[in-house]
Amino acid sequence: MSEAFEPHNIIVTGGCGFIGSNFVHYVVNNHLGVHVTVLDKLTYAGNPRNIEGLPSDRVELVVGDICDADLLDRIVPGHDAIVHYAAESHNDNSIADPSPFLRTNVEGTFCLLEACRRHGVRYHHVSTDEVYGDLALDEPRRFQPDDPYRPSSPYSSTKASSDLLVRAWHRTYDLRTTISNCSNNYGPYQHVEKFIPRQITNILCGIRPKLYGDGKNVRDWIHTEDHSRAVWDILTKGRIGETYLIGANGERSNIDVLHAILERMGKDPDDFDWVRDRPGHDRRYAIDPTKLETELGWKPVHTDFSEGLDQTIAWYREHEDWWRPAKEATEAKYAKQGQ
Ligand code: NAD
Ligand code: DAU
Repeated sequence: MSEAFEPHNIIVTGGCGFIGSNFVHYVVNNHLGVHVTVLDKLTYAGNPRNIEGLPSDRVELVVGDICDADLLDRIVPGHDAIVHYAAESHNDNSIADPSPFLRTNVEGTFCLLEACRRHGVRYHHVSTDEVYGDLALDEPRRFQPDDPYRPSSPYSSTKASSDLLVRAWHRTYDLRTTISNCSNNYGPYQHVEKFIPRQITNILCGIRPKLYGDGKNVRDWIHTEDHSRAVWDILTKGRIGETYLIGANGERSNIDVLHAILERMGKDPDDFDWVRDRPGHDRRYAIDPTKLETELGWKPVHTDFSEGLDQTIAWYREHEDWWRPAKEATEAKYAKQGQ
């Protein structure tokens, strides 16, 4: 069932993280009648500076845990929708210690679904293409919304579990839900643990970039602003109970992305270290976004990856005070893992 939906007062969980904060900026800049309550625990990945300077009559930050049912009962009433971004999001961390992933990604989603059920609120679930497992490098196929779930890592298995909870809550309780599964995002405010910011900030610090395995793994890159617009379109025009895949035809091997960064930052193509591979490392992700494009008319705007990369490198050059505090601890963690 399709439902025209005009939200005025939404909760964005994880709105101080990378993609969540980009979504908050997108909503504030493009949908003037909408108020956003950000619910964020401010873990190591959450930074209130990501939403600093946004108008205080449009954006309110509530610092708290999505697993706190009493807090949810206090803040959810009066909102039209929850857009759920909060998560433990990094695969390498999930391999080192899966427990926070179980709690935040699975139990946290359960708590939000129950709060939506108690208070009659619509729910959009932000998920990942990793729930579908991986594809071979030479396979012409891309992920389809109805593909079977085959997650590989502790992170992706908790995201898959949370998607299944959403599907069940829709079917059993008629909760008004939508799900989106997106490919790899890049852009401003991404934590330095992730591939692109890690390599850019390594070069800025005089550290050699680090490439896992044989460097041939493929990721399907999308600019985070295109992701934000897609989530908004799904929230406001998507069919209830449906899953939409978000991707921008951005397949690239890790070594190609690294070479592009090295070249743009004035380094030689072999100015990097090969390091230990990620256990269970997914080979290739690739999204078929046809359903989103044909049903909702969404199209990516940031289609020039080189230009997006230049802007992202410039952003990290100009915001050293933002990333520097997290850099040393992040690299110390990687060094312990041989990465
Ligand atoms: P991130 O790690 O940058 O941010 C996560 C945010 O969630 C942080 O602000 C953190 O403080 C908050 N958070 C964590 N646990 C919380 C809790 N228990 N209660 C409240 N807040 C909590 O993550 P991201 O990369 O921005 O990813 C956001 C969402 O998008 C995740 O659900 C992720 O699975 C999904 N996703 C990410 C990508 C990607 O490329 N990064 C792609 C597809 C989907
Ligand atoms: O596909 C969507 C997913 O993309 C999201 O669900 C995750 O939240 C997000 O973190 C991202 O997962 P990846 O594991 O693909 O992203 P990451 O940035 O960690 O790594 C991208 C690729 O680069 C992956 O193949 C591993 C490799 N890599 C990563 C790092 C940090 C390296 O070769 N060297 C590195 O230093």
